[in-house]
Amino acid sequence: MTAVGIDAMEIWTGKLKLDLAETFAPAQGDDPGKYTKGLGLRASSFPDVYEDIVTMGANAAHRLMERKGLTPEDIGRIDVATESAFDNSKPVSTYIAGCLEQVYDENFHHANKGERKFACISGTQSLDDAYNWIRAGRNRGRAALVIATDTALYARDDPGEATQGAGAVAMLVDEDPNLVELSTEQGYGSADETDFLKPNQQFPSVDGKRSVNVYLARMREALEDFAEVAGDIHPGDYEMIPFHTPFPGMVRKAAALGYRHIVRGTDVGELLAEEIGHQPMRSDFETDDEFHAAIKEYTDALTETERYQDWYANTIEPTLEISREVGNWYTGSVHIARASGLKHARENGLDLDEARLLVASYGSGAQAEVHAETVVPGWEEEIGALDIDEQIRNRYDLSFAEYEQVHDVHNHDTEADVEEFTAPEKEFAFDGWGRMGERKYRYVE
Ligand code: CAA
Repeated sequence: MTAVGIDAMEIWTGKLKLDLAETFAPAQGDDPGKYTKGLGLRASSFPDVYEDIVTMGANAAHRLMERKGLTPEDIGRIDVATESAFDNSKPVSTYIAGCLEQVYDENFHHANKGERKFACISGTQSLDDAYNWIRAGRNRGRAALVIATDTALYARDDPGEATQGAGAVAMLVDEDPNLVELSTEQGYGSADETDFLKPNQQFPSVDGKRSVNVYLARMREALEDFAEVAGDIHPGDYEMIPFHTPFPGMVRKAAALGYRHIVRGTDVGELLAEEIGHQPMRSDFETDDEFHAAIKEYTDALTETERYQDWYANTIEPTLEISREVGNWYTGSVHIARASGLKHARENGLDLDEARLLVASYGSGAQAEVHAETVVPGWEEEIGALDIDEQIRNRYDLSFAEYEQVHDVHNHDTEADVEEFTAPEKEFAFDGWGRMGERKYRYVE
């Protein structure tokens, strides 16, 4: 079977930065440790006044096409995943194709375009759609462009405000990929949940604490479902595990739960039992409360062991490095985590040829999906082409007053006339409104 997967990717961060420890925490009267240690975030990325989901997505896609020497003729499909869409009918992919057609002689009239919605997991679902399209032999030799783009903004003073972010990830899905090959096996955990939603409103209604528990519950189901189809998972099977990362503290919890799950019945589980005792079983307790207290005590002991900490340092920590600087990008977040892990491996001389990744995606509402990926030779060159460090360094560092203005600019319910903080250059920029209320864009040389 021909390998299908991600051939190349590009990342585009919003060009403004909100420093959580230096700028946000003092304004909120909070200890910076809540953000840097508790949530695990140093900063959020924000869109400048001329940026939005279309410009960021189009800029990431344009850079990807230029680097790979592609023209529209090479692309048979453009799938956009977002939970920040501004139009209930016309998909963001048409706006992005329109932008790209400004800079290419050919057009995308032959390309199937769509928009996927299921909170943050729709980025991975779009990847799956592209994979299935190629596997079904419907691609006529063309590749798919999958773009995950979001302005993950919360209402002011919402507890989620500290986890905001904005950026886009563009991925080229093709046969014989140069980055990772996707597994056919997938595991799902999916249920009708009311934890995070936007019922015809821009900013989410969030039950924050509950959303954390729903993430963990659906992720556990997805891991179990994946093991049903792919066989038992051993902690040594996967070099890295990129999780959906709304904030690194969430992944800290998910990793402990995942590890508890995958060591059961393994040699590692036996060694841990000698050290900290066996994992609590529900049947050993009379009430749920007693069981949950025992699980918490066991997990605290587990995460203190050298065995767990070594595994976490190698398998999880590298996937969080970009996220700590940019915040939550919703649909792009798990794809940032994969890029972060691979980038860390390249910079530290790790040989990942043929290494396996376990990719754990999540979307509120709620669904988790777990699949495996094989890193393919060529990955180092692809990852080496990313300039995300430079983008992160070059962001304009907002004062708190400026942050308040920018938040208003992107709030659909407020009128704010604010000068741009950075100058667009060789990129797409928002260019005002058209006669039917559509957004217009221009390429700035
Ligand atoms: N030093 C060190 N740690 C500190 C600290 C300090 N001074 N002060 C607080 N902390 C720790 C807390 O102990 C806590 O850690 P634990 O959870 O490990 O105990 C952490 O910092 C956060 O503190 P709080 O729980 O008090 O924070 P909060 O209640 O204000 O906000 C949140 C947390 C509810 C998750 C909020 O950020 C939120 O609503 N976020 C949006 C929803 C979200 O991201 N949910 C995640 C799952 S849903 C999902 O993944 C989809 C998605 O993308 C949105």
